[in-house]
Formats: sequence, structure tokens, C-alpha cells
Amino acid sequence: MLAKPLTPLPAVVTGVIDEAPLVKTIYVALRDFPEPAPGQFNMVYARGLGEVPISVSDAFRRGDRLVIAHTVRSVGAVTKHLTTFIEVGSQVGIRGPYGRGWPLEGMEGMDVLIVGGGIGLAPLRPIIRYVEARRDSFGRLFILYGARTPHDLIYKHELGKYTEIPNSVVKVSIDKPYEGWTGYVGFVTDLIDRIDLDPSRTTAYVCGPEVMMKVAVRRLASRGLKADKMFLSLERRMRCGMGVCGTCQFGHYFVCKDGPVFSYDELMNYLWVDGI
Ligand SMILES: Cc1cc2nc3c(=O)[nH]c(=O)nc-3n(C[C@H](O)[C@H](O)[C@H](O)COP(=O)(O)OP(=O)(O)OC[C@H]3O[C@@H](n4cnc5c(N)ncnc54)[C@H](O)[C@@H]3O)c2cc1C
Ligand code: FES
Repeated sequence: MLAKPLTPLPAVVTGVIDEAPLVKTIYVALRDFPEPAPGQFNMVYARGLGEVPISVSDAFRRGDRLVIAHTVRSVGAVTKHLTTFIEVGSQVGIRGPYGRGWPLEGMEGMDVLIVGGGIGLAPLRPIIRYVEARRDSFGRLFILYGARTPHDLIYKHELGKYTEIPNSVVKVSIDKPYEGWTGYVGFVTDLIDRIDLDPSRTTAYVCGPEVMMKVAVRRLASRGLKADKMFLSLERRMRCGMGVCGTCQFGHYFVCKDGPVFSYDELMNYLWVDGI
């Protein structure tokens, strides 16, 4: 916890990668920053414009610094600034890490099923890193990832490498036929029916547009997965990011503090209600 919890720490941008149209991954280096757990997020501050919650998409040590990646899609003022004007050497502000991430401890021995849509792969990527680093502790690793077009896929430079992780199954889809695309065409959620799933020993981790996550939980349930073995990461507008202001309220939860990751079990009463 920072001494002044709402004050961002200055962080220097050490790398910027073009991922897809309007999407960039921004690497920042920080000293004395807590190591984020998979699925946690940071508040990223663009000077003079404001702060936005962005998931940690990677984190590793380099010397005495912690390097953290944030994959950002331009949708409004702050994210447009981050993806347009930020370059190596720029300064941004970071506070965090916040929230309850993906449950991984205690899941040893289980098959891990990742279902990501579009930029939703960003908070799921640390799970892939986590399982890869402890490969013998988990069962099979399924990575199902979809985007609208081949150009919209993020982490193109490493998607192929996921297939080299022992005991992994990787399937990538795009929504509509595209010249030269030889992979699956259709929604990523269709892929759930195309894998050899053992519901008794699988934990599913899902992130993408809310409509995609709703379809995913239905498909997973139809394959026999229990609601307490499906986990979703929610996005809501946030201000404080730490359970103080109430902006992110979703039913009786504060998404920033109680989430952003929830089991489907926890969300069942709210997910299907319009306007929450
Ligand atoms: C826990 C969490 C993790 C997130 N991780 C990422 C990430 O890894 N990469 C990424 O690009 N984005 C992520 N987001 C979404 C990101 O925070 C919003 O896109 C951003 O706040 C928009 O701010 P803006 O000033 O650019 O646009 P604004 O002008 O504020 O908004 C532009 C549009 O986006 C919608 N919007 C704004 N904030 C949110 C929000 N929090 N959730 C859903 N819709 C919103 C608005 O309704 C509006 O339609 C995450 C959000 C949360 C809550
Ligand atoms: S953003 Fe303030 S309580 Fe969640």
C-alpha cells in the first residue's frame, strides 16, 4: 500500500508495442512497487487527463525494477492519449495493484481453460505465464482466443509459442472469413464445444466483451462445468479503484475490491439483469 494511496507513482515508459488497430502494450518500470497477481489491475494516470483502470498483462523483474505491461485499447480521452502520444521515455502515473485476481493457488492438478475475446486476452495472459512456469503442477492447458479479424488479435508475436507449452491446446478464431485465414471462423465461444473437456477437473477463466462472457458461461455449463469453476473478469467505470467511492458498484459488490474477477456462482443473480 502506498503512503498516499490515491497518489500515482511516477513510472517511465520502457517499451511500446503495436498490437492491433487502436491497441498498444505499454511497458513501465517501477521501483518499490508490489508484484501484481494474475488478474489484478492498476490505475494508469495520464497527466492532465485522468486515470483509467487497466489490467496487468505481464510483469517481470529487471534489475531492481519491476516492469509491468498494460495493453490498452483506445476508446476515449485517456486511452486515446496513452495509445497515441505515449512513447519510450514518457512518464505516466501508476497506482495499484488492485483487486482480486484469478484464483490459481489451490487449482493445482486441474486442467486450465482460458477463453479470451479481443483485448480480453490481456488479463488472461498472466495465467498462461503462471501455468507455464509451474507446468508440472497443472493438467492440460486450453487456450481459446478469438477476435473479429486477424488484425485484431493481440500478442500475435507469441500466440504461436503457446502451442509449444507442453500439454497445451491452442485454438484461435476470427468472426468472419478473411482472405488467407486457415484457422477457425466463428465465435470464440464455439470453440468450447470443440475441445475434449473434462468438467470434473477443469477450471475456466473467461474475459472479453460481456456478451461473449455470457455466451461462454452458458456453453461451459452445457459442457457440465459447475458455476464455481468458471471465473470472469468484469469491467466497470472506476474512480478510486480501491473500494472507497462506490462508482464501480455491481449488485452488492464493488468490482474494484471484490473483483474484478468473480466466479460465475457469485455473479449469477446480477449478470442477466439489464442496467446493473
Ligand atoms: C478492472 C478493469 C480492467 C481493465 N483493463 C483494461 C485493459 O487491460 N485494457 C483496456 O484497454 N481497457 C481496460 N479496461 C477498460 C478501461 O478502463 C476503459 O476503456 C477506460 O477507462 C476508458 O477511459 P477513457 O477516458 O479512455 O474513455 P471514456 O471517455 O471514459 O469512455 C469511453 C467509452 O468507454 C466506456 N468505458 C469507460 N470506462 C469503462 C470501464 N471501466 N469499463 C467499461 N467501459 C468503460 C464508456 O462508457 C464510453 O463508452 C479495464 C477496466 C476495468 C474496470
Ligand atoms: S472504483 Fe471506487 S469503489 Fe470501486
